[in-house]
Amino acid sequence: MSSLSQKRIILGITGGIAAYKSAEIARRLQDQGAEVRVIMTDSAQEFIRPLTLQALTGKPVHTDLLDPKAEAAMGHIELARWADAILVAPATANFMAALNQGTANDLLTTVCLASSGKIIVAPAMNQAMWSQPASQENIECLKQRGIAILEPDNGIQACGDIGPGRLQQPEAIIEHMGSVFDSGILSGKQVVITAGPTREAIDPVRYISNHSSGKMGYALASAMLDAGASVTLISGPVSLQCPDRCELISVVSTDDMLAATAQAVTKADIFISAAAVADYRVTEVASQKIKKKSDKMSLNLSKTPDIVSILSKDNPKLFVVGFAAETDRVEAYARKKLEQKHLNAIIANDVSRNDIGFNSDDNEALWIDANNCKALSKKSKTQLAREIAVLIANEINH
Ligand code: C5P
Repeated sequence: MSSLSQKRIILGITGGIAAYKSAEIARRLQDQGAEVRVIMTDSAQEFIRPLTLQALTGKPVHTDLLDPKAEAAMGHIELARWADAILVAPATANFMAALNQGTANDLLTTVCLASSGKIIVAPAMNQAMWSQPASQENIECLKQRGIAILEPDNGIQACGDIGPGRLQQPEAIIEHMGSVFDSGILSGKQVVITAGPTREAIDPVRYISNHSSGKMGYALASAMLDAGASVTLISGPVSLQCPDRCELISVVSTDDMLAATAQAVTKADIFISAAAVADYRVTEVASQKIKKKSDKMSLNLSKTPDIVSILSKDNPKLFVVGFAAETDRVEAYARKKLEQKHLNAIIANDVSRNDIGFNSDDNEALWIDANNCKALSKKSKTQLAREIAVLIANEINH
């Protein structure tokens, strides 16, 4: 799984002859696992048809700022919030001037202005236009504002001129996009993450478990890898693909998870306990399938070991982050768990809502530590995981 996996990328296409290469860029981004939505300016549509990009991405191409129908489906602010990054390739001199000025007179410039994500611009134009002081000043200003510029290649241009101004090759652009998400803020750190549910056997065919999908823990594993950490993911049974730079240890029961995690954290700096560990297990697991006899049946249950509490006590130097799924008084209950479980931080969410949390792709949470309570607004679990990586890095690097 590449670092583009599950990243949401807007591909902005402006009006230049190199627009034909955008189709290849869209395809390659998706090959790397990214979700792609395309915005085309009016002049881009003179060079390449929206239908080509729609067929490649399987999503309608966004073209209009003031089209009520398009805005009702996914408006410009939603598009800006949706994206982890905006790649504009090719970017014309006109687009870069507009981006520098902060004008918002079409959909692409408006979305760029409304976005808090990363913006990457791959210019392509005639060599004389590129070399103009006006273009160079725009480029310098954009760089200073943190916008990445993929400087054009030198060579023969469509107009016959020779010089700088050719759009970088799609492979080079994709390679750069992969590195956009590699922040390195946790480089050299060892992280252990538990994810998914645990299962407690009742008899050889039945078990007690819960609805955890593992999505949050797996998203955290990707975010930690992008941050430069080495990651061991200790996962209960889920149907998710493990990021390929990550060591995966698959477990079933709480005891298995405790044993694997206790071993892994001895060489770790950070432990994130995202698993929805079963709270109770059957006191005595039946060795044969229990027969259906009477209308009612009782199970004798005992508490499972609390993995995160045990390991935070045994490893005082470990930076430990827990999760709290609550249905009411979210902050108060989470704070109590922060103290009782000796955590450095806890991420609390309201599981009474069905638009976030268990099984959902989105989450909204509170980050609570000894001094702070920070609201993490609703976003994809991938985006939330990256925000959590930054919060952890701030805590352990200060
Ligand atoms: O007590 P509660 O289950 O709400 O606490 C949630 C936090 O504790 C999560 O971080 C979860 O991974 C961890 N936990 C654990 N072992 C258990 C129960 C919960 O590590 N047996």
